[in-house]
Amino acid sequence: MSNVHKQIEHLRSEIRKHDYLYYVLNAPQITDRQYDKLFAELKELEKQHPELITPDSPTQRVSEKPIEGFAVVRHTTPMLSIDNTYSADELRAFDQRVRKGIGSSHYSFVVELKIDGLAISLRYESGRLVQGATRGDGETGDDVTNNVRTIKSIPLLLCDNPPDVLEVRGEVYMPKKAFAELNEQRQQQDLPLFANPRNAAAGSLKLLDANITATRKLAFFAYELGEASNEISSSHFETLQKLKTFGLPVNPHSARAEDIDEVIKICGQWEKKRYDLEYQIDGMVIKIDRPAQREILGYTGRSPKWCISYKFAAEQARTKVLSIDVQVGKSGILTPVANLEPVLLAGTTVKRASLHNFDEIQRLDVRVGDTVIIEKAGEIIPQVVEVETKQRDLSGSRPFEPPEHCPVCGSRPQKDPSGVYIRCVNPDCPAQLKERLRYFAGRDQMDIENLGSALIEQLVDGGLVKNFADLYKLTAGQLAKLERMGIKSATNVIKGIAESKTRPVSRLIAALGIRHVGIQNAEILAEHFGSLEKLMQSSLEELQSIEQIGPVMAQSIYEYFRNEKNVKVIKALIDAGLKTTERKKLDSDRLAGKTFVLTGTLPNYARSEVEKMIKANGGKAASSVSKNTDFVIAGAEAGSKLEKAQQLGIKIISESEFLKMIK
Ligand code: IVH
Repeated sequence: MSNVHKQIEHLRSEIRKHDYLYYVLNAPQITDRQYDKLFAELKELEKQHPELITPDSPTQRVSEKPIEGFAVVRHTTPMLSIDNTYSADELRAFDQRVRKGIGSSHYSFVVELKIDGLAISLRYESGRLVQGATRGDGETGDDVTNNVRTIKSIPLLLCDNPPDVLEVRGEVYMPKKAFAELNEQRQQQDLPLFANPRNAAAGSLKLLDANITATRKLAFFAYELGEASNEISSSHFETLQKLKTFGLPVNPHSARAEDIDEVIKICGQWEKKRYDLEYQIDGMVIKIDRPAQREILGYTGRSPKWCISYKFAAEQARTKVLSIDVQVGKSGILTPVANLEPVLLAGTTVKRASLHNFDEIQRLDVRVGDTVIIEKAGEIIPQVVEVETKQRDLSGSRPFEPPEHCPVCGSRPQKDPSGVYIRCVNPDCPAQLKERLRYFAGRDQMDIENLGSALIEQLVDGGLVKNFADLYKLTAGQLAKLERMGIKSATNVIKGIAESKTRPVSRLIAALGIRHVGIQNAEILAEHFGSLEKLMQSSLEELQSIEQIGPVMAQSIYEYFRNEKNVKVIKALIDAGLKTTERKKLDSDRLAGKTFVLTGTLPNYARSEVEKMIKANGGKAASSVSKNTDFVIAGAEAGSKLEKAQQLGIKIISESEFLKMIK
């Protein structure tokens, strides 16, 4: 093994070790920064030596291009469901059934958290992750291997001598924090919100583009075995500990219980403590510990008789609707929000609840003064689930009417084409402007320090700021005259605004608030066009041709830059000296002046990655073969492009020949 090879293997095993410490043992030994450094070092070495890249390298979690659809996987042993119970009495009845089934011998239980995500089966062969599949109907599921590979807590390679074949079942879930962040992002992009972390996890895992799954911060806990080439232990509890030594994340709160009273006690404790966890659980799972006893008990229909779930009741609270506000979002969507009599629910005091849209208000018939039942969607976002109409004071109450005017600018709102939303379409509505400015200055966009909501409010109301570009014309003198603002804080704000001029162009694109374009898409656009000016001039066809940009987004971007007002503001931003180009550092200019076309499936790299390498070395990647093409890189099942290249006598090369060209 060469020195470089050894160094690469060393870095990989270090990274795997730290992944294990972080994701499985929850006990990191190095800082994120140190970890990122190891990762960057490995990436650099692999870049210099692409022939040494292996699929189980920590850098290769995402390498696939979007797929057309999921293949079907037949589970080697069926993935069963569990019967539910809702009370201590029902748990005792379960215990009675078990006792009858097993007879006089002693049995113990394992009590686990019921993670609210979706069930997945992972197949490892010789320690390597070879397949990930959803539960589906229990017999067959979807092959989601590409997607599960992107989940950092799922090891690509097991350690400590695992069986040759090991199928692990467990739950893919989205931690509460990641769920809240994802929904916040989606709200800013006018995308429909996920109702709870489980839907968000399922939606993220079933994406055809694993690149997007990789951004979704999913996690995993292993809790059962499927097929295994040899028995791991004669106790489930010990099997779980063993899975942990193989490098798999196992929930740390699983506990053995010797009798049903202990089980009930543990369930009760978690019912209260569940809000302290970083992920959502919807109950507990109670299992018989010994596999031999499980076998005696057997199955009924699709669920085992050795396992039962105890489902928590969704926590609810009763309160009163004090008033209903209509809020105006950055794209003008009017959202009704109920102001509530403050009430404690699932660990926090709730004062407001979203009513989503006006159809929802009508469906529930929520009225001011009503007594309502609220619940937290995914334990996080409070929402009204029921109105106690019997409690209604008949004399005064009237159905809530959708507003005929924007509550802020007074203009007439319009129904969205989807028919669900009502939108204020006045581009000068100060409420929208405020929201857009807040977004523009936000942490993930231009990150303007000290430009908070209250100041934006003053700036817009005082007529000092009418668009993004006006921010860059402000002076400390002007700001110092505002209420609650001294010269020192005024200077700080101006400094923050000035500093934002050098943000990467991707952030500026995101900050414009083009409908459907969030930071990830903004990065794709910045990468593709290299400058804001080029993006502005792009044709609709070019936007549509970008792999990750869908037709709706392409249309929205195109229209945004056809709006004269928008263009005027952007020109003023450019005049103010904001950075609008992404100066790409080239790896080399070895491919300068050469045009490449890719066809077929390449053995190691996704097409988009090879295109990146071409560009990074000064070359051009084109989509169709012509006499201007210098090279065609052909992989398996190459089609008409290959034929055309042969006809035109263009040089055809393989992926490895290409890699040699840039080495
Ligand atoms: S055991 C035959 N253990 O709950 C038993 N399931 O409602 C197979 N779940 O489909 C599952 N946490 O998706 C088991 N600790 C846990 C679990 C768990 C969550 C999910 C799983 C299952 C569903 C049944």
